Amino acid sequence: MKYNNILVDIDGKTAKITINRPKKLNALNKNTINELNNAIEAFEADEKVRVIIITGSGDKAFVAGADITEFAHFDISKGAKLSKKGQKILFDFIENLNTPVIAAVNGFALGGGLELAMACHFRVASENAKMGLPEVSLGIIPGYGGTQRLPQLVGKGKAMELIMTAGMLDAEEAKTYGLVNYVVDQDELMPFCEKLAKKISYNSGTAISAAIKAVNASFEDGVNGFEVEIEQFGNCFGTEDFEEGTTAFLEKRKAKF
Ligand code: COA
Repeated sequence: MKYNNILVDIDGKTAKITINRPKKLNALNKNTINELNNAIEAFEADEKVRVIIITGSGDKAFVAGADITEFAHFDISKGAKLSKKGQKILFDFIENLNTPVIAAVNGFALGGGLELAMACHFRVASENAKMGLPEVSLGIIPGYGGTQRLPQLVGKGKAMELIMTAGMLDAEEAKTYGLVNYVVDQDELMPFCEKLAKKISYNSGTAISAAIKAVNASFEDGVNGFEVEIEQFGNCFGTEDFEEGTTAFLEKRKAKF
């Protein structure tokens, strides 16, 4: 498929998506959100792809937010629709994917950019990265899941402060608060994420997908995460990967998933 706003690439079992609007600091306009949805859907359906890495093009920004020019004239109804659709086709979609997604945060991750990074399963930042939810400076609030995922990751108090001040965390601060798992030199960001992706891809894809469902269940209202864990754990026993993993262990060889 041909894309205008993203670049896609597969290397072995790792797929890479680069949001490619560097002149607009990779801001998420409607087309970019649709293209991300299409590319992620295609990678999810591709059995060869075991991990997806999302990053931004250029050395300045991961994503500097939703494209402000597109919603500056919206009314209440259009605003609500923008948020609902975006959450459905991109942010919730990524969080609930079977394939693990790593955000390689290579610069500004603001507003929708940080929300995109937070929807990914975990985050690695380059030392120049800056993260924040500046929406209240525009008279709106984060609408792509930011008010929910930021407190989950950094705690309620820090999330409230960041949202209210429209402030930014640098990469080291973000690591201190658990918002990113690692901070690496900018040149090292992709090789580092690729190494992590490779490590993940040696393990059982079906088990990883079950783990994503169980971990996510812990943050879903009205869902008993322990029950989901029991169900997912049980399901694993019916998979080929379970057979291969346990057989390989008993035969003292590495499992081939
Ligand atoms: N939506 C639309 N365009 C954006 C954008 C966004 N979220 N973020 C940056 N851009 C555009 C700028 O308008 C500018 O375009 P232009 O060259 O046509 O004028 C271009 O990207 C470069 O940005 P600029 O502001 O000149 O870069 P800077 O280095 O001076 O500042 C930021 C960088 C990230 C601090 C600044 O761009 C910014 O505050 N962006 C908006 C962040 C935000 O509020 N995001 C939440 C949106 S809900």
